[in-house]
Amino acid sequence: MTNKLLSSLKLRDVELPNRIVVSPMQMYMAKENGECTDWHLVHLGKFATGNFGTVFTEVLCVESRGRSTYSDAGIWSDTHIPMLKKIASFIHSQGSIPAAQIGHCGPKSCRQRPYDGLQPLSSKDAENGEPPWEIVSCSAEPAAPGYATPHSLTENEVKELVLAFGEAARRCDEAGFQVLDVHAAHGYLIHSFLSPISNSRNDMYGGSRENRMRFALEIADALRENWPASKPILFRLSCIDRFEGGLEIEDTIELAKELKNRGVDAIDCSSGGIKGPNSLFSLATKSPPTPGFQVPLSEAVRLGAKMPTMAVGMIMDPPHAEQIISDGQADLIALGREALFNPHWGLHAARLLNEGQTFDDWPPNMGWWLEVRQRMLSSTDPKDWRIGPAAANAPLQSNESH
Ligand SMILES: Cc1cc2nc3c(=O)[nH]c(=O)nc-3n(C[C@H](O)[C@H](O)[C@H](O)COP(=O)(O)O)c2cc1C
Repeated sequence: MTNKLLSSLKLRDVELPNRIVVSPMQMYMAKENGECTDWHLVHLGKFATGNFGTVFTEVLCVESRGRSTYSDAGIWSDTHIPMLKKIASFIHSQGSIPAAQIGHCGPKSCRQRPYDGLQPLSSKDAENGEPPWEIVSCSAEPAAPGYATPHSLTENEVKELVLAFGEAARRCDEAGFQVLDVHAAHGYLIHSFLSPISNSRNDMYGGSRENRMRFALEIADALRENWPASKPILFRLSCIDRFEGGLEIEDTIELAKELKNRGVDAIDCSSGGIKGPNSLFSLATKSPPTPGFQVPLSEAVRLGAKMPTMAVGMIMDPPHAEQIISDGQADLIALGREALFNPHWGLHAARLLNEGQTFDDWPPNMGWWLEVRQRMLSSTDPKDWRIGPAAANAPLQSNESH
């Protein structure tokens, strides 16, 4: 039985083999010059062997000022291409689609890694070899209390950044990525222009919704000039700000329609982040997010803008993912932390959703052995299995062979 989660999806000329996607996730493992390493190859490669149809890199920063930490991955130089090419090539060799996310952290740049505290870099960090740098944003306002005050970009500087996004897209194409996602969410640079909460400009990039959308739309145009017409582009949006006076779903639907007019193929539907941490953090302290908490946003954008969407956020259970796709709430399912928890999630989903729970969809070099083991386990009585700490110390029976 073919189910929806495992069915392919064609976006432009690119056929995604299934609907299961690894969401972009910063790993803070890049070299200080933004280059990825073999660590990223193994990290992202294991998702490709785990039946994730599409594997996204973490956000690749379009300029070094736009890094959130000294360990962010970059795409601001041609020197970043060779390692990314190796990664994209391996993902492709496993039958998955290599995908890149590009972005700029804007007012959330120049911070400590999350597990070091997430605070803006200070003179204390400078003593440890990580001095702060000048950060830039839509307006000269900190992302939230305690964050650094950014320099407000001049119109010329905004235009330069639009070009930087275009250059980044060209490099991603040269590296062999087949799908592009633009990080326009979570209080990062593009989101800071979109949201009335963070945008206090009074030039052509501020004020009305049309003006606030201008930077994102100019970026979409620049991408379409530098990224092949055969390959799809997604935009990750914070569909709602979750603050009074912030972005509402109607704003996002209008933006999605405009992006679609400029050649954007799907919306990657996230939320929050405009006044500090994104929904993952902030909701955890108020009312914790429940599985699929952002799916209604995806459904609203899909219906409102009549274009494909990707749902993300606490989707962990294969039948739930299957339900979201078959109910028409999203076209793709992105997994973040669940993919970290189980890099073989795509294989397990295929087995769970397959009638008879076979290993038919697993690579034969693994599936064949697991099928044999399954038959063996099915022919024995679980009572005879030696499980748990006591079993570890139990003497082996003399007739057991290795
Ligand atoms: C370690 C980590 C790093 C992340 N880095 C990014 C990123 O680079 N770009 C992005 O758009 N979202 C990033 N996110 C958000 C995830 O892509 C995803 O939207 C979020 O974790 C919700 O999905 P989940 O509940 O399946 O984890 C990150 C999340 C985590 C946990």
